[in-house]
Amino acid sequence: MKFLVLYSTVEGQTRKIAEAVASHIETLGHFVELTDTNQVGFADPGTGDGAILCAPVHIGRYPSAFVHFLQNWKSILNNIPTAFISVSLSIASTDEAEKAEARAYPVTLCEQTGWKPKTVLHCAGALKYSEYDFFKRWMLKRIAAAENGPIDARQDYELTNWTEVKRFVDDFINDINTDKG
Ligand SMILES: Cc1cc2nc3c(=O)[nH]c(=O)nc-3n(C[C@H](O)[C@H](O)[C@H](O)COP(=O)(O)O)c2cc1C
Repeated sequence: MKFLVLYSTVEGQTRKIAEAVASHIETLGHFVELTDTNQVGFADPGTGDGAILCAPVHIGRYPSAFVHFLQNWKSILNNIPTAFISVSLSIASTDEAEKAEARAYPVTLCEQTGWKPKTVLHCAGALKYSEYDFFKRWMLKRIAAAENGPIDARQDYELTNWTEVKRFVDDFINDINTDKG
């Protein structure tokens, strides 16, 4: 089978997740096309047997280029099985209200765009304090503190659970195979 892995990223962690998804799909013996949705004018996203889309939450929303991409291609995406990996910090929170907020982001996105993924993974991203400017570092320390997350900005933190990402991909592909009979 052929799968599309479409992603949007701001700081790079979602690209890393999309690359891990793509290479896992390849190890399962399938073809993959990995594309950044911020690049315009690439091939029709409907040319795969399924698609996994990945995007991060920044200040309570997904990148606007990603939202526009979904608005443009939703009819084609809704014709093939699709899955969404929503990357955020709040999903790693110990606070239930913060987690609930993370779970609500994809619901709003789907309402806003009309895209209907079959399944969603809420995936923790990364805190790259060393790469942020002063303002971002200050903001992210505040966000992390609200979530009982790591606030020692002398180091970076990768909170992504790679085993969970691979399992999500396995389940998505197995479901497609089951549906095909
Ligand atoms: C400026 C900024 C704002 C962020 N805002 C949120 C937020 O509102 N909620 C949240 O859960 N995570 C937030 N995060 C955490 C990101 O979702 C996380 O760092 C993710 O790994 C970023 O993905 P990317 O590297 O692909 O851009 C924010 C991160 C940054 C840098």
